[in-house]
Amino acid sequence: MAAAPSPLARRALAGLAAAAVVVPVTVLWQTSRLSAQYSVTEMGVVELGSGPRVPALADHGRHGGDHADSPGASLVTVDELVETRTGPADVAVTLTARSERVELAPGVDVDAFTVNGTTPGPTVRATQGDLVEVTFVNESVPDGATLHWHGMDVPNAADGVAGVTQDAVPVGGTFTYRFTAEDAGTYWYHSHQVSHEQVRRGLLGAVVVDPVPGAPEAGGPDVAELLRDAVDVTAVVHQFGPHRTVQGTPGETTVEVSPGQAARVRVVNTDNGAMPVWVSGAPFRLAAIDGTDVHGPQEVRDEAVVVTAGGRADLLVVAPDDGTAARVELGGSAAVVLGPPGATGEPTRRPATTLDPLTYGEPTPLGLDPDTPTRSFEYSIGRRPGFVDGRPGMHWTVNGRSYPDVPMFTVRTGDVVRMTIENRSGEAHPMHLHGHHVVVLARDGVAATGSPWWVDSLDVGQGESYEIAFVADNPGIWMDHCHNLPHATEGLLAHLMYAGVTTPYLMGSATGNEPE
Ligand code: C2O
Ligand code: CU
Repeated sequence: MAAAPSPLARRALAGLAAAAVVVPVTVLWQTSRLSAQYSVTEMGVVELGSGPRVPALADHGRHGGDHADSPGASLVTVDELVETRTGPADVAVTLTARSERVELAPGVDVDAFTVNGTTPGPTVRATQGDLVEVTFVNESVPDGATLHWHGMDVPNAADGVAGVTQDAVPVGGTFTYRFTAEDAGTYWYHSHQVSHEQVRRGLLGAVVVDPVPGAPEAGGPDVAELLRDAVDVTAVVHQFGPHRTVQGTPGETTVEVSPGQAARVRVVNTDNGAMPVWVSGAPFRLAAIDGTDVHGPQEVRDEAVVVTAGGRADLLVVAPDDGTAARVELGGSAAVVLGPPGATGEPTRRPATTLDPLTYGEPTPLGLDPDTPTRSFEYSIGRRPGFVDGRPGMHWTVNGRSYPDVPMFTVRTGDVVRMTIENRSGEAHPMHLHGHHVVVLARDGVAATGSPWWVDSLDVGQGESYEIAFVADNPGIWMDHCHNLPHATEGLLAHLMYAGVTTPYLMGSATGNEPE
């Protein structure tokens, strides 16, 4: 029998073993720490996808590389990617953010961030094609604030991401956003500075872009007929603590609609989780998803629509002929009641079936050919133990790496891009790409067969895989992140960068810019 090691030798061995663990862990901890200021163009892992390899793509913006599209040309900064139309705006509004207490209902008040004194702030309303100019004033949001136009394909300089497209607007500062309201539909705005906190506290509002009068109705003749004298309702849904609110009011919101008259209810989910929505007392149509009209939306009954975090769903509901009310149930804890005065309707429970946009509505051409993409990417979400900025834990990964080593999906203007988003992280993620509309081609290998399913916010469940496509037609540097905003804070994000674009803005503790 071998002699047991002496106590001294044992201690020495234990010490070595501990060092073998501690030293690498210390190195990991140390190297994971973020610098006090850094540029989005220096972080991440350049991914060119499959597709034409352009040498200058790989190091653009890092070593002052050449403009990929025209070698030798200088880089374009995000500040130059502005609205090209000049002259007075068709819609000009001033939005002023404040930190203040808000009374949601008698006796229910919360610490909020307001826009022009309320949360949600005023709805910015425009007609398709209008030039919109928003003067943003930060009166008293201590960390600084911005406005991001969620779902709108604005020029990059107007995207409102602190540390990427602008500096956070400090208390007393202003910033002007100018863009064309290119597409009709329901959108929203929110701060993109410390967004997990500022959005939760209400620094947000809706944007509604009406079609040009007389424009053909994408939904088809039935929908056009219903919309002719429909009541238009904007329902920004937001959770303040235990209170689910609609336009800032907890519980039920009543809208007067005559028997037989239609209402278009624009549901905006401003929270971090998906919200089921259904209708009691009447059938309905899902008229639009994320601002894009559904083509040929069928009438449905006893089905719930799941609105992705950050997403929108426009429901077209006809008030019953018998004078009772129809109710749009918002997750079961708030409702929009549509009917004549005094009618309340009967709430119902969530239907057992859920509408699947993959098969809903009628197909119509996409306007792009996803079968011959210029470039294909993978956005694979996982989770593993490690360090992010010195914090140990189970961290989100994108393509196997965690923040800041996340992908910079690099494209050229005009690319038709295909992306596979898959999720093996154990939780659902509402994925949101800035500045572009993306179309869903397939889920888990099953091709979409309904109306083209255009989204800007796509709920990717655990174990799911989505094929999406979009046209790279809006140069800039764009976030592509989880809209469960605490997850984005934890590093579940990536960027879509156009070759040759750079930014003068910096993020990090020394800069005051903290987009998530
Ligand atoms: Cu609605 Cu990057 O956000
Ligand atoms: Cu997430």
